[in-house]
Amino acid sequence: MSSTRKGFFVVLDGIDGCGKTVHSKMLCEQLRVLDYDVAYTTEPSKSPIGQFIAQKFLRETKVAPQIEALLFAADRFHHLTSEIIPMLDANKIVVSDRYVYSSLAYQGAQGLAPDWIKQINCFAIRPDLALYLDVLPETGLARKRSRSTLENLDLEKKVREIYLDLVKSGELVKIDSYRNRDVVRKEIMEIVLRSLDKIHFQR
Ligand SMILES: Nc1ncnc2c1ncn2[C@@H]1O[C@H](COP(=O)(O)OP(=O)(O)OP(=O)(O)O)[C@@H](O)[C@H]1O
Ligand SMILES: [Mg+2]
Repeated sequence: MSSTRKGFFVVLDGIDGCGKTVHSKMLCEQLRVLDYDVAYTTEPSKSPIGQFIAQKFLRETKVAPQIEALLFAADRFHHLTSEIIPMLDANKIVVSDRYVYSSLAYQGAQGLAPDWIKQINCFAIRPDLALYLDVLPETGLARKRSRSTLENLDLEKKVREIYLDLVKSGELVKIDSYRNRDVVRKEIMEIVLRSLDKIHFQR
């Protein structure tokens, strides 16, 4: 990533039901109260490629994980070049609900080599801050009130292991998201404000 880039790019990632959407939106609200110019965005994006990914058809049709990874990478390229980078150039804080870490975790859990996933996402700029909200897969599935089929649970367990490896390698910062929502909200806000301070972010 170019060191001259303006703006601040923060990502919240993690398994299903860990609290990404709730905390991304609360973070945006809290930053707006402090007069920061903030944009919330999500993967898959609202673009035609993102909408195609989110379609019921794709959720219910078993496609090869390679195809999933390529579709997500295509959506990510479009999302970055048409939305995220222009907003950063306009000096906004961009909060993304999921990013490339989801591809590493979900397609990785289905057996794809991490290097292959990284290669097809080589354009993905490094965020200024990437947070991983950690919960047990059982907690995530229960929060979503989805039927925790054994298949879902097994996949989510593998997904979580990959996220935890990304924490170990320093790519993600772990937040214990099983705790009370308000405690988690405050911790996320503190970390974000500290990071903004560290880079002397100018509004
Ligand atoms: N710390 C928490 N304690 C209790 N409930 C929580 C906590 N964090 C989130 N929740 C609740 O869990 C549910 C799932 O949260 P949310 O939709 O933010 O998860 P998500 O990570 O965005 O899930 P998905 O991957 O499906 O988009 C919501 O009803 C939310 O209010
Ligand atoms: Mg969500």
